[in-house]
Amino acid sequence: MTDDAIITVEDLSKQYDGFMAVEGVSFDIKRGEIFGLLGPNGAGKSTIISILCCLLEPTAGRVTIDGFDVEKNATDIKKIIGVVPQEISLYYTLTARENLAFYAKIYGLSGKAMKDRIEELLDMVGLTDRADDRLEGYSGGMKRRINIAVALLHNPRILFLDEPSTGVDPQSRKRIYDTIRDLNRQGTTVLLTTHQMEDAEKLCHRIAIMDKGKLVALDTLQGLLKLVGESDIIQVTSKELPPEAADTIQQIDKVQKVAVDGGSMTIGLVRGRESLAGIIDILIASGTKVESIQIKEPDLETLFLHLTGTRLRR
Ligand SMILES: Nc1ncnc2c1ncn2[C@@H]1O[C@H](COP(=O)(O)OP(=O)(O)OP(=O)(O)O)[C@@H](O)[C@H]1O
Ligand SMILES: [Mg+2]
Repeated sequence: MTDDAIITVEDLSKQYDGFMAVEGVSFDIKRGEIFGLLGPNGAGKSTIISILCCLLEPTAGRVTIDGFDVEKNATDIKKIIGVVPQEISLYYTLTARENLAFYAKIYGLSGKAMKDRIEELLDMVGLTDRADDRLEGYSGGMKRRINIAVALLHNPRILFLDEPSTGVDPQSRKRIYDTIRDLNRQGTTVLLTTHQMEDAEKLCHRIAIMDKGKLVALDTLQGLLKLVGESDIIQVTSKELPPEAADTIQQIDKVQKVAVDGGSMTIGLVRGRESLAGIIDILIASGTKVESIQIKEPDLETLFLHLTGTRLRR
């Protein structure tokens, strides 16, 4: 554990009826950072969030939040964390203001303090002008913005967001990004989960990549991209991709991985441009009618393929 860690996760595992959903995961989150857990469906992201929120007990390992143990000090932890769950939990027949007032009372707010806090949060998520409309008429992104406001009612020092941009229109996404950045600038530590590359690339100071319950990498975006080094991705699309073409391409010295998925072939290789002509020759010789061929610079998607051999499902 480093001195400035506000959250420590040590060798955390969670089993559901014998199924290992999270296995031996360790990481620290520093005070004041935006930390991202990135991984495909079923990677174990929500399970980790649920354990950190004291909603689920770990099978093994230890988690502390600001010095409190999730298994022993849940009451202390709940006072300092705010949680935006993956599934929106709001009353659709009530207005935004009424939803916020309902949850504010649960947190013990009342009177002018409650009213002021609600107005402040409506302004922060940009929904003051819609505050007296029932949520049933809201878009998915607007509902999520209200859910974020609810999580902030008690002014938590730490905010957990499970998939903040899933089912969110671009305008709301931008607003959510701005809100997260503003909160962070004011000192809030943020943990978010996502399977959207954009969230991780645009928001997070550090990113932990998860796959099948395990942590496969953890670093800053720049650090993670260095892991792929000079690797590129060449993407070929064609109605038919003969298996022998993939086999022959795999034999090329600089090629690291070849994955065929329907009409799309993804080739991970070092310095892609140098091998491009050779790859095109192989495709032509195998009778492949290429529809498109594209070289991509390294990004998180490339890294994910590099680390796990599979594409990140969205
Ligand atoms: N209550 C449960 N009982 C049994 N298995 C579960 C339960 N909750 C989750 N799992 C399984 O544990 C694994 C991890 O699930 P989890 O919801 O943590 O993944 P995730 O990374 O959040 O996925 P997503 O991107 O779909 O939200 C999955 O295989 C899931 O089916
Ligand atoms: Mg999830």
